[in-house]
Amino acid sequence: MKILLTGAAGFLGSHLTQKLISEGHQVIGLDDFSSGSKKNISDFLNNPNFIFQEQDVCKPFFCEVDAILNFACPASPPIYQLDPVRTIETNFVGTLNLLKLARQIDAIFIQASTSEVYGDPAQTPQNEKYWGNVNPIGIRSCYDEGKRAAETLSFDFKRQFNLDARVIRIFNTYGPNMAINDGRVVSNLIVQALKGVPMTIFGDGKQTRSFCYVSDLVEAIYLTLVRKNRFETPINLGNPTEFSMNQLAENIIKLTNTKSELVYMPLPGDDPKQRNPDISLAKSLLGWEPATNLNSGLIKTVDYFTRELARG
Ligand SMILES: NC(=O)c1ccc[n+]([C@@H]2O[C@H](COP(=O)([O-])OP(=O)(O)OC[C@H]3O[C@@H](n4cnc5c(N)ncnc54)[C@H](O)[C@@H]3O)[C@@H](O)[C@H]2O)c1
Repeated sequence: MKILLTGAAGFLGSHLTQKLISEGHQVIGLDDFSSGSKKNISDFLNNPNFIFQEQDVCKPFFCEVDAILNFACPASPPIYQLDPVRTIETNFVGTLNLLKLARQIDAIFIQASTSEVYGDPAQTPQNEKYWGNVNPIGIRSCYDEGKRAAETLSFDFKRQFNLDARVIRIFNTYGPNMAINDGRVVSNLIVQALKGVPMTIFGDGKQTRSFCYVSDLVEAIYLTLVRKNRFETPINLGNPTEFSMNQLAENIIKLTNTKSELVYMPLPGDDPKQRNPDISLAKSLLGWEPATNLNSGLIKTVDYFTRELARG
């Protein structure tokens, strides 16, 4: 297949590019480098099956492909909150542009949505039928509501124009190629531990998340792309094993042998207390479930950040 991948220079985009090329597909990567980096795509630039274009998805773009994977959008709260208007614009205008293109060229469209559409969930685990509990005017809303609007657009294009739109709701994913300063909890704690500086926990550390290692997620995204069936509902993708922030920090302390101490800071606005995907649908539709446990994923991620910090 010829595939347009937006957000190609980001954390997930770089792993997806690797996977798609290794499976024999051609990738056109698009990115504006707002939260991604040239380093993440440097290995592919000489590959004949990879073409890169620096491009803002909010500006119309044309190419002929078989599938469009829309991953353009900063995913880290401190980054997407730097320019909230831009974040919601990317999610709405960017997604609309890409859906129009998918319709014009009759391509499969995959939207990278998020567990944030569930907000601070009133039920756990979250299954795809749950509509969520989202603050429409809070500091996370530019992302959460932007992603919800992008889902709405995807399903409207599906119903109105019979577009083959597929929406995946990604739960917290981590691994190599996350930016050192991107401020997500796993990378944050590992980098602080490796630097020997205080490790920041927001709130009392009892709030839980489920963490998926990136290779597991990429496998699920790939299966979503190559399945012949059409998907009538969004699909949760993530690892259902739940950990508290305190447990995560203790794990990282052991793996890095750090002398860093934990410091507790006030919880930011609208921070969800719990996240846990019900992945029954992904299991039945894709025959997929994550295979990497937290410890083995953390070892690879600590290794990556150790090398990154040594590079300076
Ligand atoms: N990593 C996760 O845990 C997670 C969880 C849920 C959803 N997602 C979604 O997956 C996608 C990728 O996330 P990530 O973790 O790789 O984040 P990331 O910030 O590392 O990557 C996003 C990429 O999109 C690019 N981008 C942003 N705005 C753009 C624009 N207007 N035009 C062109 N490029 C633009 C950035 O430069 C960056 O390279 C995002 O849509 C995110 O919402 C990720």
